[in-house]
Amino acid sequence: MASVLAITSVLPATMLHAEPKSESPATWSHQEASQIERDASNTAPLIEKEEIEQMAPNHWVWDTWPLRNKDGSVAKVNGYKVIFALTAPDDVLPGKRHDIATIRYFYSKNGKDWEMGGEAFDPAEAYGSRQWAGSAMVENGNIHLFYTATGRKGEEGLTYEQRLALANGKMNVSKKGISFSDWSHDIILEPQGEYYQTEEQSEGGILYSFRDPWYFEDPKTGEEYITFEGNSAGDASDQTCQPRNIGDKEYQSSTEVSEVASDYNGNVGLAKLDSEDYTSWEIMPPVLEADCVNQQLERPHFVMKGNQYYLFVDSHKFTFTPGIEGPDGLYGFTADSLYGDYQPLNGSGLVVANPEDNPFQAYSWIVLPNGNVISFVNYIDLGDVSLKEVGAQPVDFQYDHFGGTLAPTLKLSIHKNKTRIVNELQYGKVN
Ligand code: FRU
Repeated sequence: MASVLAITSVLPATMLHAEPKSESPATWSHQEASQIERDASNTAPLIEKEEIEQMAPNHWVWDTWPLRNKDGSVAKVNGYKVIFALTAPDDVLPGKRHDIATIRYFYSKNGKDWEMGGEAFDPAEAYGSRQWAGSAMVENGNIHLFYTATGRKGEEGLTYEQRLALANGKMNVSKKGISFSDWSHDIILEPQGEYYQTEEQSEGGILYSFRDPWYFEDPKTGEEYITFEGNSAGDASDQTCQPRNIGDKEYQSSTEVSEVASDYNGNVGLAKLDSEDYTSWEIMPPVLEADCVNQQLERPHFVMKGNQYYLFVDSHKFTFTPGIEGPDGLYGFTADSLYGDYQPLNGSGLVVANPEDNPFQAYSWIVLPNGNVISFVNYIDLGDVSLKEVGAQPVDFQYDHFGGTLAPTLKLSIHKNKTRIVNELQYGKVN
């Protein structure tokens, strides 16, 4: 473990930024995250390997999102619900799937028995050498599918550049089911380096993210946004821990923060709609930053309850800064305005944790407007395998430990800044 550095209440001048990285977004502080603990209210029931049934013939399925209406509700078109998911043929090792991810869609009348419809669009016509997670919204038969364009078409070796993209198309419903047509693709956002780290700035850092666009209409203003996973801007080597990232004065002076904490700089980004056809977006400062706490705030999404904004993200054990113990799980924050002072739910932010005995059993949780939470079955029954210790996801992991299908849906109760898992529903239930 790297040596540690005591953060005192008076920070040396060298730790302050010449230029702020952003307009001081709300923080998920070291102090808050240090309270993360599994308990009965946040620990998901164990997934039994024998119960798992593959939902897609011959394919792995992981990050999934439902087709929604503009107001965020799950859409029902002529009686059908639709979900989109990242998929790959199941004869590739699970860890390799990210390199060949393709968006496929599924439809269902009861929201749990899913029929695989095929590729959402022809990947040859999409941006990126592969497409990563996103969101989808339907409005009068027009579908707007936001996705991450990862790498570039025709690249020789795999690259990890990430740009936010949009496919606009038509949704066709017939007796035979659902199909899509007339797609047109646009790149809608790149990180630019002012609020969100570019791939170049991230050099020497831990991991780079600019991905997972999620459409959100703010019911308080009617304004339309996408939120996404980013990292705080600036060269990785210049990143520092600010007092606001650590905690209150007492915590600052009493806590040892790892010297490498400043390498961890995940944030949640926002962009505001600027054109009727959804192709132009104004990049905005982040709504939340986890500098010195966590490197990845994945698949951010908003849910409204009453007048409150609930912002949820997924994160991994291995992306927490050394010294903070957090499980692979769903984390959440709440504020009374979009750019509000987000407070972590349950004090620490932890909302759903994988159980200790199966710490990587699920991932990529998405909270639906009614509080039901979908996710996919990730690595299960690892026994003594070293993944348990390191928390990383090696590419050569054996097939029989990977789920690759939707996990049981969890029912969450949300009251003010407290949540609790109250039930486990069927596998893959979307309602
Ligand atoms: C989370 C994630 C997403 C990304 C996808 C790539 O599961 O890392 O952020 O879009 O996986 O497979």
